[in-house]
Amino acid sequence: MAARVSRRAASIMPSPTMWIQDMVSMLRRSGRGYYSLHVGQPGISPPSGVVEFLSRVLREKSGDISLYAYTSPRGIMELREAIADDLASLGRVKPDPSRGVIVTTGGIEGLFTSIASVTDPGDPVGVVVPAYFHFYSILRLLGNRVVEVSSYPGLDVSEDMWIEVFSKVKAVIVANPDNPTGRTLSEGEARLLAELSCDNRVYLIHDIAYYTLYYEASREWPENYCQDYVVTVGTFSKDPGIPGWRLGFVASSEDVAEAVAHVREATSYNAPLPSQILVLEYLKGRYREKFLPRVIEEYRSRREALAGALEELLPRARFKKPAAGIFIYVDLSNYLKTNSEEWAKRIAVENGVLTVPGTLFGEGGEKWLRLSFAWEPKERLEEAVEIMASKLKG
Ligand SMILES: Cc1ncc(COP(=O)(O)O)c(C=O)c1O
Repeated sequence: MAARVSRRAASIMPSPTMWIQDMVSMLRRSGRGYYSLHVGQPGISPPSGVVEFLSRVLREKSGDISLYAYTSPRGIMELREAIADDLASLGRVKPDPSRGVIVTTGGIEGLFTSIASVTDPGDPVGVVVPAYFHFYSILRLLGNRVVEVSSYPGLDVSEDMWIEVFSKVKAVIVANPDNPTGRTLSEGEARLLAELSCDNRVYLIHDIAYYTLYYEASREWPENYCQDYVVTVGTFSKDPGIPGWRLGFVASSEDVAEAVAHVREATSYNAPLPSQILVLEYLKGRYREKFLPRVIEEYRSRREALAGALEELLPRARFKKPAAGIFIYVDLSNYLKTNSEEWAKRIAVENGVLTVPGTLFGEGGEKWLRLSFAWEPKERLEEAVEIMASKLKG
């Protein structure tokens, strides 16, 4: 007899991204090449100098037991200071490094522990649809009720929609820049969300996973207008680009940070020490100053190539060129006869083009696809669109 798993676990099974992982394994095993427009991770390695620094530390300190020890669940103090300085240099009010910054095992753990710290099971939490799929799995696992506000078809959220959602919930999660839409908060919205958070005593989980990957938009911080109820959740998965090394952070009021630190003791306890050493050097050693402008230029030109190919080869596809982040979210309703999930599976199996269907981001995405421009170089992005176009038109 098959083992019975909990309702909690069953609520997130099977993961909606599972078929994509299966497809990647199948394509890898078959030895066929494929186009990775599905990944939410950079195709550019971190600066070699910082990786060499870490190798040197590992080599020279291999006999030093402190290299293998637990760190504080809050993270090493120097890194918390570097994160606080970094956020301040990017325009956010500076969090208190000793009491208001927690280093986490990636952004997902930052989201999980901060939502667990500010809500109870059953509490309603607002998300804007389309919404990053892990928001749903975290909220289901924690037993929260998801309150959705749809931004389809224009992918905009009006002031009235924000006011309504804040009136119904205990917390709201906003990705800024957003995944999958690339939408960013304007200054007016940042002020509005902060006001709604403080006035209604509703926590705003401000997910800034792509916080350095801006091309045109300005970076806005609701934290600057409401410090008690806005919780910043960040990650180093995208910059310097170490998603598999799991490092992120939460920056918040002392009370929330204290709770996050305790919740972390029951999740991963502390973030991997080698990753903390690497990111500390990345921030303190000023590697980003040279590295990031090159990365931004590269992503900008890939974005242009992908957007240009879509405009030329699929002129009836609708999308907004994102001013930040690494995705183009495209409406193919003028071309698609089937659901985008079925179509994404077909083009993956038959042509090796991997994309993420809009259905993974909540209701309303049935004709949409998320295309990442972070992994593949320009020419390959253009080839992938050519394949998609010939399939859609044929
Ligand atoms: C909007 C958003 N938030 C959080 C995360 C999680 O980041 P991490 O890989 O560090 O767990 C991602 C990753 O893709 C993301 O897109």
